[in-house]
Amino acid sequence: MPQEFQEFAGATALVTGATAGIGRGAALRLAALGAEVVVHGRDADRGARVVAEAEATGGRARFVAADLSDPGDVLHLAEAAGAVDVLVNNAGIYRFAGAADSTAEMFDVHMAVNARAPLLLVGALVPGMAARGRGAVVNLSTLAASVPARGAAVYGASKAALELMTRVWADEFGARGVRVNAVASGPVRTPGTVKMGEKALTSVARATVLDRPAEPEEIVEAIVFLASARAGYITGAVLDVSGGRPAIG
Ligand SMILES: NC(=O)c1ccc[n+]([C@@H]2O[C@H](COP(=O)([O-])OP(=O)(O)OC[C@H]3O[C@@H](n4cnc5c(N)ncnc54)[C@H](OP(=O)(O)O)[C@@H]3O)[C@@H](O)[C@H]2O)c1
Repeated sequence: MPQEFQEFAGATALVTGATAGIGRGAALRLAALGAEVVVHGRDADRGARVVAEAEATGGRARFVAADLSDPGDVLHLAEAAGAVDVLVNNAGIYRFAGAADSTAEMFDVHMAVNARAPLLLVGALVPGMAARGRGAVVNLSTLAASVPARGAAVYGASKAALELMTRVWADEFGARGVRVNAVASGPVRTPGTVKMGEKALTSVARATVLDRPAEPEEIVEAIVFLASARAGYITGAVLDVSGGRPAIG
């Protein structure tokens, strides 16, 4: 098979939550395109498997473990990653509950993993990109950040915070050559959603025009595009990769 154009040759990329699902796909694709990838997650066995998969196809990768709900661990991850050119804030949690069943712990952990960890990683890593005059950040959001989704008040709010920060960071770093964008994903078949059950996934998928969940690779394409030089004039954008919204009436 002919080798793909090494669009990310010479670049280093940190992908959070790369031990499963969308993040795993993004890490493998970036490695296949020439990036040296820092694979992040908590599960060291799955991390080692992703690194081995990347290396099996000629890529370069290493694993760093960190629990993103712990701010000290987030800063340790940034330090262990070192200077990066691409940051994909993909790791995320999603638990669904109505207001009466939503606890303070549930709110805090969603905000910690989905919004505070990206903030701390941007704060630790993006000034370096800006000093070098180049870099790209891609944040993983969800359709539920902008459209009411049943039981997703807490999850959606944490991702709405991330989308707002995406726009602020685009302004903060844009003049120094760093682009910051988000992908608002629709339902995707990943280990996380499969755990919730096929019924839950297909019922959300029914609310898309395409009437099916995405495969991780379909979200990965958007992430890689936004991280690449092909998206050189795109910043502060939230790219809708949600399978489309049905018309009413
Ligand atoms: N799947 C969907 O339908 C969908 C839709 C819209 C948006 N998204 C967003 O896309 C992203 C990826 O979703 P996914 O479905 O691919 O996820 P997933 O299959 O549930 O995998 C989650 C990943 O995040 C990591 N992670 C979770 N909590 C963490 C923590 N506290 N500290 C460190 N790492 C943690 C996991 O690492 P370990 O297992 O190693 O701990 C794993 O690598 C999330 O931000 C999600 O909100 C997903």
